[in-house]
Amino acid sequence: MALRDILVIPDKRLRIVSKPVEAVDAQVRALAEDMLETMYDAPGIGLAAIQIGKPLRLVTMDLSKKEDEKAPQVFINPEITWSSDEVNVHEEGCLSIPEYYEEVERPSKVRFSYLDLDGKLQEVEADGIFATCIQHEIDHLNGVLFIDHISKLKRDRVVKKYTKIAKQAAE
Ligand code: NI
Repeated sequence: MALRDILVIPDKRLRIVSKPVEAVDAQVRALAEDMLETMYDAPGIGLAAIQIGKPLRLVTMDLSKKEDEKAPQVFINPEITWSSDEVNVHEEGCLSIPEYYEEVERPSKVRFSYLDLDGKLQEVEADGIFATCIQHEIDHLNGVLFIDHISKLKRDRVVKKYTKIAKQAAE
């Protein structure tokens, strides 16, 4: 296992559309392990492979409460198969946009399919934070960030801020 660097905006790789995982093999399982370790270290509740620079449709998540035992989850090639008309507003954050939080409106419930670590096709229904998180992570696989769902004014402001920080770091 190894900790990986998390890409931060305005890194262009965050806009890549990730490719499906073709075979759930040892390499993919090792990548998932690294992602979980990186996610816990950050700390965060969800991570998409592209956030560590791997353009693969692979997501890790742990929505357990701090006081509870860890509940790592890995979703390979996740795909929304149904979403509710009903929407919810949740405050979202992202490890690729550190320390920035904003309310985002999304369908309150979704159903999605994915491959598990044994390569078996699964389908689950998600609501609450689970629904928000999986939609946020699947967005990453399509090169979409949660700031794309907020007003242009707010988005421009946050992108400008992180572009400035990146420039200063490069100097
Ligand atoms: Ni994110």
